Amino acid sequence: MADTFDLTVIGTGPGGYVCAVRAAQLGMKVAVVEKWPTFGGTCLNIGCIPSKALLHVSELFEEARHSFPQLGIEVDAPRINLEAMMAHKDDVVASNTSGIEYLFKKNKITAFYGTGTIAAAGKVTVTAEDGTVSEITTKNIVIATGSVPANLPGIEIDEEKIVTSTGALELDKVPGHLLVIGAGVIGLELGSVWARLGAKVTVVEFLDRILPGMDGEVAKQFQRMLSKQGFEFKLGTKVTGIEKSDQGLIAQIEPAQGGEAASIEVDVALVAIGRVPYTEGLGLDGVGVELDKRGRVVTDGHYKTNVDGIYAIGDVIAGPMLAHKAEDEGIAIAEILAGQAGHVNYGVIPGVVYTSPEVASVGKSEDELKAEGVDYKAAKFPFTANGRAKAMLATDGFVKILADKATDRVLGCHIVGRGAGEMIHEAAVLMEFGGSAEDLARTCHAHPTMSEAVREAALGLGDGSIHI
Ligand code: FAD
Ligand code: NAI
Repeated sequence: MADTFDLTVIGTGPGGYVCAVRAAQLGMKVAVVEKWPTFGGTCLNIGCIPSKALLHVSELFEEARHSFPQLGIEVDAPRINLEAMMAHKDDVVASNTSGIEYLFKKNKITAFYGTGTIAAAGKVTVTAEDGTVSEITTKNIVIATGSVPANLPGIEIDEEKIVTSTGALELDKVPGHLLVIGAGVIGLELGSVWARLGAKVTVVEFLDRILPGMDGEVAKQFQRMLSKQGFEFKLGTKVTGIEKSDQGLIAQIEPAQGGEAASIEVDVALVAIGRVPYTEGLGLDGVGVELDKRGRVVTDGHYKTNVDGIYAIGDVIAGPMLAHKAEDEGIAIAEILAGQAGHVNYGVIPGVVYTSPEVASVGKSEDELKAEGVDYKAAKFPFTANGRAKAMLATDGFVKILADKATDRVLGCHIVGRGAGEMIHEAAVLMEFGGSAEDLARTCHAHPTMSEAVREAALGLGDGSIHI
């Protein structure tokens, strides 16, 4: 007899596994379906976690090479052991993915291994790799099947020489010259890893700026910092083809708006031009679940699709493709299905680029406020004026806070600097409570910390920063 569940979640990335755990905590009988051998989705297996492991190692390597002498630490020139570095990354991934297995057991969640297909509302079939098919009967279904890398037409990925982020996390040697196509989050993070390990990195970006969506001033200053680190940027440029040669790859590039073509010889090319929602094999056509023009599952404000009993969350629906956005939606839909008022505040979802320095933002960018005609005020505080930053040789960057001119309510915060990804949360909490710049400025901050720069920027929106 088929099993019967209150909820079946298809996909165990940060959206799916968090949804399953919260639903079980709220008393539901929950099943999950996963086609990969390990749980955790893109984020834990081939995304956030392994990339941060490599970013950490390469950052320490860079520190040892460049900052140690100035700090008075004398060591022989450090060498990178790529195999050991990759083993560290694999251990971190294994520890995280097995953690999800533990959470499923702890919360009595039944796991089905295989590709989940929605046969009808209330019915999911699971086809295991060996072809065995099982059937799940369920009151509700949550689609959490995530996303996959977008392809560049005419360029064939082999995950060795022409790679997506997945191959870029696995290279078996440091490329002499790495071509990064797309100056987005993946391109700059993984470009940083290989640049720190010794690769020359050329970034080709279609637009005339890096990190589209981030505050324009932040992006401009950050680009300068990366250029100082050796990144070469070709903005307003597109790659039209890549040929394989005996030596490596020859990439054809030309101005985005058309013009004279040129070619660059590289060893490895990373295609990082965005990700697309993944719904293959789900059988959505058959059950009539609506997709939008970009292939995303269409949902209402409560994550419900156009078919009763079928919901969707995470990268497969609209919104930023971020693990914490997927997680928050997972909690919200579990609460909604339990009869509670699940909700995500899309106005306060932080974004972090884990480069060196880090770039973090929450709320509106200055460009958005201008476009919306909001009467705002802005203040900036540089880390060059922060004592702790000086002590750590981490003076690159600044904090910028944007607040409503009339009410002083904080509308956005943008930080470039070491630890920006941690500091941004004080602005996020403040904004969740509708706080003002004055609230932040009057909050005592421990000295000496990098976070004092956040307070100083807030002071700058009132009677003035103290230290500049
Ligand atoms: P996913 O994590 O993509 O999980 C989907 C799961 O569904 C997968 O396990 C897949 O196997 C499974 N699946 C799909 N179809 C089926 C089916 N029919 N049956 C069964 N199982 C199925 N975000 C951040 O917030 N911070 C970061 O630092 C960060 N770094 C990243 C670095 C890289 C290199 C990449 C590629 C992404 C990164 N992201 C980061 C983005 C983040 O990984 C995604 O936003 C997040 O994983 C989306 O979660 P999800 O649950 O929607 O889907
Ligand atoms: P992205 O959307 O961040 O950046 C893609 C870049 O490629 C853009 O700048 C775009 O203009 C450019 N581009 C598009 N087509 C191009 C072309 N033909 N030629 C040259 N440039 C082109 O996408 P990315 O970096 O692939 O990351 C995918 C998703 O994964 C992002 O949405 C991001 O949110 C998520 N992610 C998040 C991370 C984090 O939070 N730290 C880390 C890595 C990924």
